[in-house]
Amino acid sequence: METVLVVGATGNIGVSAVKGALNSHRKVLAIVRNQQSADKLLRHLGSLASDQVTCIEADILSDSGVRGVVDQVRAGELPPFQHVYSCVGGEYTTTPLKEITTRQLRYNFSTSFEANFFAYRDTIDYLLEQGHPASTWTICTGAQGDIAAYPVPAMPQGALFSMATAACRENANTNVRFNEVYLAFRVEVDEDAAQHGVTSASEFASVYEQLLGRPDIRSSRVRVDSIGDLKELKFEKKF
Ligand SMILES: NC(=O)c1ccc[n+]([C@@H]2O[C@H](COP(=O)([O-])OP(=O)(O)OC[C@H]3O[C@@H](n4cnc5c(N)ncnc54)[C@H](OP(=O)(O)O)[C@@H]3O)[C@@H](O)[C@H]2O)c1
Repeated sequence: METVLVVGATGNIGVSAVKGALNSHRKVLAIVRNQQSADKLLRHLGSLASDQVTCIEADILSDSGVRGVVDQVRAGELPPFQHVYSCVGGEYTTTPLKEITTRQLRYNFSTSFEANFFAYRDTIDYLLEQGHPASTWTICTGAQGDIAAYPVPAMPQGALFSMATAACRENANTNVRFNEVYLAFRVEVDEDAAQHGVTSASEFASVYEQLLGRPDIRSSRVRVDSIGDLKELKFEKKF
C-alpha cells in the first residue's frame, strides 16, 4: 500500500489531500505541529479510516523540520512514502499593502512560501532515490496570486508559481510526477464550508484522488476554476 506524506495536513487543503489519499486507498503520513493539530485532523476525518493515518510532530517552518521527518523514514522509524502533497498556508486577510507590517510579511512568506519550498527541497531526493515508478509531488496554489484581492496570501503565491514551474521542469523526465493544483475558489474544512457556503474539503478531495490515478498528468498546472473542474480534471502541460 502506498503512502502520501502531507505537509500542512491539518488545514483546509491538507484535510482535503488526506481525504483524497484515503479515498484512493493509500495511507497518510501527516506532519503536524502538535497533538492539538493532530486531534483536529482526526476530527475532520470523521468516519474515514483514521487508522491509516500516522501523525508525526515537526516544525515545518524550520529549515530542518521536514528533513528530520525524512531522516526518520530513512531510519525505518516511520513508514516509507511514495507521494508528497504540500499545502502550508498563512493568514487569509485583506490587509492592504501599505498596512502590512514587516513581521506580518515575513511570517506569511515563511508559512506560505518557505515551508512549501523546504517540503520540496527536503523530500524530492528521497523520492528520486526510491525510484518508485508512480511517485507524485503535488502543491496547491491559488488564483489569489493573480487577482491579489487579498495581498497577504496573494504575494507568496507568486513565488510558489515560479517554484512549481521549476519543479515541473526539473521532474519532466524523472519518476516523480510533479503537478501544481491551481485553485480559483474557496475551499474549507467541511464544517466551516457549510457555515460559509463555500466548497468543502471533502468535495475538493476528488481532485487529488483523481490526480493520483492519472499517470498522463505530469509537469502540469491542474486548473480548478469552477465546481465542474472537481469532476473532470483540466490541465495545461508546462513541459
Ligand atoms: N483554502 C483555499 O480555498 C485555498 C485556495 C487556493 C489556494 N490555497 C492555498 O493552499 C494553501 C493552504 O491553504 P489552507 O486554506 O489549507 O490554509 P490553512 O487552513 O490555514 O492551513 C494551513 C496549514 O499550514 C499549517 N501552518 C500554518 N502556520 C503554521 C505554523 N506556524 N507552524 C506549523 N504549521 C503551520 C497549519 O497547521 P495548523 O492546523 O496546526 O494551524 C495548516 O496545516 C495556501 O498556500 C493557500 O494559498 C488555498
